[in-house]
Amino acid sequence: MSGGPDVLRHTVETLRAAGCVFAEEEADLLVGQAADDEALETLVRRRVSGEPLEVVLGWTRFDGLRVEVDAGVFVPRQRTAFLARQAIVIAQPGDVVLDLCCGTGAIGLAVATAVPDVELHACDIDPAAVACAARNVAAVGGHTWCGDLFAPLPQRLHARVDIVVVNAPYVPTARIGFMPTEARDHEPRHSLDGGVDGVQIHRRVGDEVGAWLRPGGCVLVETSTDQADLTAEALSAAGLATAIHASDELQATVAVGRRLG
Ligand SMILES: C[S@@+](CC[C@H](N)C(=O)[O-])C[C@H]1O[C@@H](n2cnc3c(N)ncnc32)[C@H](O)[C@@H]1O
Repeated sequence: MSGGPDVLRHTVETLRAAGCVFAEEEADLLVGQAADDEALETLVRRRVSGEPLEVVLGWTRFDGLRVEVDAGVFVPRQRTAFLARQAIVIAQPGDVVLDLCCGTGAIGLAVATAVPDVELHACDIDPAAVACAARNVAAVGGHTWCGDLFAPLPQRLHARVDIVVVNAPYVPTARIGFMPTEARDHEPRHSLDGGVDGVQIHRRVGDEVGAWLRPGGCVLVETSTDQADLTAEALSAAGLATAIHASDELQATVAVGRRLG
């Protein structure tokens, strides 16, 4: 609905009273999304009750792309665009790219949109995430798989993947209680919890990724400044040549591992 100034003002006031920091921007989006007054009321009620804006809208922007976001699926963070851009820099046309722990599939979608003729595979343990990713990556002809890490992938991809992008859960278990309530209450625990030191899944990725990468292929793993060394160790322990890249602008850190032989 276009909504008159009164509708917009009332929506801003309602959101502000509920503690939304970006009430004006959110009101614009919610008014733009709603078909009529009744629909707007429902959207605002959901937002005021604490649902993430992206889930209420059903979509978000990730590195300039529109990505659908379903309830119960991890909302892509803007910092993760750094991981996608790092992958885009090294990817070649026609590469086989795997988005492991894909959530909405935003990273894989960004890579396959920027690099011609990528064969994209996106994989997650959560059927809700896989269903959401399937819609998002359909535009680039992506394939989706459901299961634990590499387990559901077809054997024909063995030693054939050029680039694996991974934003797996990496929050240390004890820190989950300190996350914003939007994450704690609306994103599944298995999308956040990286185990005691946060890098347990990174170690599993390190153990298994070498069998899927072609010689010279790379795995890129989002991590934090504090955990970067542990993530890099998880990759080097598996025999990969590792490096750490960071972006001050996006406050993002990525560990990269390359299969040598
Ligand atoms: C932090 S979210 C990131 C999602 C997406 N990569 C992104 O950046 O928006 C982590 C994702 O890993 C998935 N996940 C957790 N454990 C997994 C496992 N053992 N195998 C595959 N996926 C897993 C979760 O379901 C969740 O979608």
